[in-house]
Amino acid sequence: MPGAPFIIVAIDGGAASGKSSTARALSERFNLLHSDTGSYYRAVTAEMLRRGASAEDLGSVKSALADLRLGTRIEGRSARIEIAGSAPGDEIRGREVNDAVSHFAAIPELRSALLSYQRGQADAARRGGFAGLVMEGRDIGSVIFPGADFRFYLHADPALREQRRVKQGQVDKVAERDRLDSSRKTAPLSQPAGSISIDTTSMTIAEVADRMASVIAPSLARP
Ligand code: C5P
Repeated sequence: MPGAPFIIVAIDGGAASGKSSTARALSERFNLLHSDTGSYYRAVTAEMLRRGASAEDLGSVKSALADLRLGTRIEGRSARIEIAGSAPGDEIRGREVNDAVSHFAAIPELRSALLSYQRGQADAARRGGFAGLVMEGRDIGSVIFPGADFRFYLHADPALREQRRVKQGQVDKVAERDRLDSSRKTAPLSQPAGSISIDTTSMTIAEVADRMASVIAPSLARP
């Protein structure tokens, strides 16, 4: 659409609350670049573990961060992180990373290493000719893009979220990660004021995406 505005959509919420599936659906519907920041924290965590860094030893984390070379590979509508030129594999969804990621994500130095990288995804979306960016995570509407055009916050019953992970064949302590993510000092998981809250417990992905699209579409149609 010539002259259409470039939009930023922020989706936050707890583990397995439906963020990725709905973000993917919106990226298809509105031609937005999809950025899953959880996968960035997972990739950096896998790299920390590979280098023998421990979340309890800040020195080891800082020295691993010092020469972390991050890049972006766009595959279809998805922005994938690269570390030293390679995209991480399935190990980022495995038990070891599931157990460690929230501990590393609580470290302010590690979060600031990812801050400008995440903001830079908006430029990657513009360069790639996308109509905007849909970014999902825990602090997107509060810290990364507090001025995003649309900010959503997804909730879902914790038991159902555990079941979603089991169905995906994953071993994941959803409630434990939420507890760690909500209680950390830097950029905790919390619903930002002014964001639109959606309880996805008894909704399908299509219903959640429709609800979000009904908020987004009118402002795109405006001259
Ligand atoms: O979204 P996902 O469950 O894959 O995220 C994995 C972990 O990455 C979260 O539990 C959280 O510790 C961390 N994370 C974060 N901030 C984000 C995205 C993810 O701290 N914006």
